[in-house]
Amino acid sequence: MSKSIPVITLDGPGGVGKGTISALVAKKLGWHYLDSGALYRLTALACQQKGIDFSAIDEVVGTTEKLQVEFLPEGGILLDGQEVEPLIRTEEAGANASLVAAIPSVREALFKRQKAFMQPPGLVADGRDMGTSIFPDADLKVFLTASADERAKRRYKQLIEKGNNVNIESLRKEIQERDERDMNRSASPLKPAGDAHIIDTSELSIEQVFQEVMCLYALTTKDSQ
Ligand code: DC
Repeated sequence: MSKSIPVITLDGPGGVGKGTISALVAKKLGWHYLDSGALYRLTALACQQKGIDFSAIDEVVGTTEKLQVEFLPEGGILLDGQEVEPLIRTEEAGANASLVAAIPSVREALFKRQKAFMQPPGLVADGRDMGTSIFPDADLKVFLTASADERAKRRYKQLIEKGNNVNIESLRKEIQERDERDMNRSASPLKPAGDAHIIDTSELSIEQVFQEVMCLYALTTKDSQ
């Protein structure tokens, strides 16, 4: 069966470079980009802003369903009309996102919203379960990995560049805790789809990973001709 809207999924743990690579691939192909992690980060922030505890599941799910989010084409993210991008990019926001993401009904509430990003001419979807749960029919599925040390180093560099004050040891610990929670939850845990191409990026530059994904996509389109 031929599908009209192609999808590439890029999944993997935190700090592996998914966001950077996904944005480069989307730009190169002129496709839409879904940053699914941002939706979980925004859900956690919206709950915090309303004073809702993450253990109050019904209220967290109600907030998720009513999220008023706008991804601006020129960059930036509005939550209820307010720019919140800097607020959701902290390590604390990532850890909170991982907590709400473990609630199965939150994941269900975000399902349709994620599917709606699938628009012509194509979609690059970045997350933990893009290839396994949200876009199981994707044309190309990539799973990026890197050693925990390397990911901590990359995250550290990113945060320092943004002017944050961070300690690499506590960062490494936080990354490990978040990975464990994301891998061991019951709903859509972090794992490669059976038909995903796994790329270990520990020794690769951003350019090398980008080229590898583009080569894999070129092969996919050749196969379907
Ligand atoms: O990719 P990120 O760091 O922005 O993701 C933040 C958290 O959101 C991550 O630790 C787990 C959760 N998440 C998820 O469960 N499923 C996704 N598709 C994307 C993110």
